[in-house]
Amino acid sequence: MSFVPYDRPVRTAFIGLGRIYDLNVRAYLDNPDAEVVALVDPSPERRAQRQGDWPGAATFPSIAALAASGIQVDAVESLLPATLHADGVVELLDQGWHVNCQKPMCNDLPEAKRMLEAAKANDRVLRVMENYLFYQPLHKLKEIVESGEIGEVSGYHMKMVGVGNGGWDVPWSAFEWQMKQMELGRGIMVFDDGWHKLSTALWLFGPIREVRAWIGTTSFGAGIDIDVPTMISWEHENGVRGGWDVTLGVDMYLRSDYYTNDERWEVTGRLGFARVNRCTGRGIQQPSVEVYVGGEMRGYHALDDDWGSSFRDSGRHWLRWLRSGDGPLLWSAEEAVDVLRFALAAYESSAAGGTGVDPRLVI
Ligand SMILES: NC(=O)c1ccc[n+]([C@@H]2O[C@H](COP(=O)([O-])OP(=O)(O)OC[C@H]3O[C@@H](n4cnc5c(N)ncnc54)[C@H](O)[C@@H]3O)[C@@H](O)[C@H]2O)c1
Repeated sequence: MSFVPYDRPVRTAFIGLGRIYDLNVRAYLDNPDAEVVALVDPSPERRAQRQGDWPGAATFPSIAALAASGIQVDAVESLLPATLHADGVVELLDQGWHVNCQKPMCNDLPEAKRMLEAAKANDRVLRVMENYLFYQPLHKLKEIVESGEIGEVSGYHMKMVGVGNGGWDVPWSAFEWQMKQMELGRGIMVFDDGWHKLSTALWLFGPIREVRAWIGTTSFGAGIDIDVPTMISWEHENGVRGGWDVTLGVDMYLRSDYYTNDERWEVTGRLGFARVNRCTGRGIQQPSVEVYVGGEMRGYHALDDDWGSSFRDSGRHWLRWLRSGDGPLLWSAEEAVDVLRFALAAYESSAAGGTGVDPRLVI
């Protein structure tokens, strides 16, 4: 790819102006690296609502209408429903625009192949943003593990509880496409939100050689099948093993400014352990990162542990990347395919009764 960094603000369009726009937009506010030139959404209410943030931007009901307008666009922030990612991203790349796509990248490997081929054919960059990799407490966890402070890593564990009460409002439109995803076997906990957890595993400990999974279903009727209780375990190529358990607290309350997910990460080493106590929601009211070594517990009290900041920093990283070409994309499209393979291996394993599946070999 013959990418040349921009020597001026990146002319950007937002494609999809729904719930997650509220967080993705944080990277663009007061950022001299970007100039927001257009907003696209079929909903007139959404367009009118978001125009308030960008009075100078033109609004359009479709990607085709923006393309036909003649407005010059360098890159887009693709915040489409997950069901539209593959076709939508190919359409965006075919316009000659770089794309920063929300997760999950897409549902299967043929779709991923189409997206990668479109990026290559159009000589454009496709990034699949992963805001969790910009969540400061997780950065601190990685730093502690890599410093050797807790000794050689023995293993690690992630936990997620989807909580029924609290948090911000999620529009019905978002549930509608999530239900379509459920019908396609791509559940809201393991695939949609799980994408983040699987990403952090790859980011912390590298490539994975075996996955074993037991994916359950809890049905709430009318096509609402939540993919819990679920347990997934895996082994990295470096020998470190990880595990993730996913459950629901249907009647539980969780204080949160965003979604009501109670999440933890804990890495055990020969000398001690380090853990992240919360992420999206405000569950455990202890420091967001704690380290236990030699009989002493140390807490980090001054981290930016607002989950929303991870969107700001992920988006700023993308815009800086377009201006400089420096550093990893977090994630490149190829790295996102590794996350997809991880999820697909979990499905294959669970369907086969929990046998080991090599994610590098799924098709
Ligand atoms: N990183 C995270 O933690 C996180 C959290 C939530 C959602 N997401 C992801 O963000 C994406 C959007 O989710 P959301 O919750 O905002 O959904 P949403 O339903 O609230 O918003 C989607 C928006 O896209 C619009 N849209 C539909 N078809 C369109 C088209 N052809 N062109 C332009 N716009 C179109 C809809 O009108 C709606 O406004 C999904 O991929 C989702 O998985 C990521």
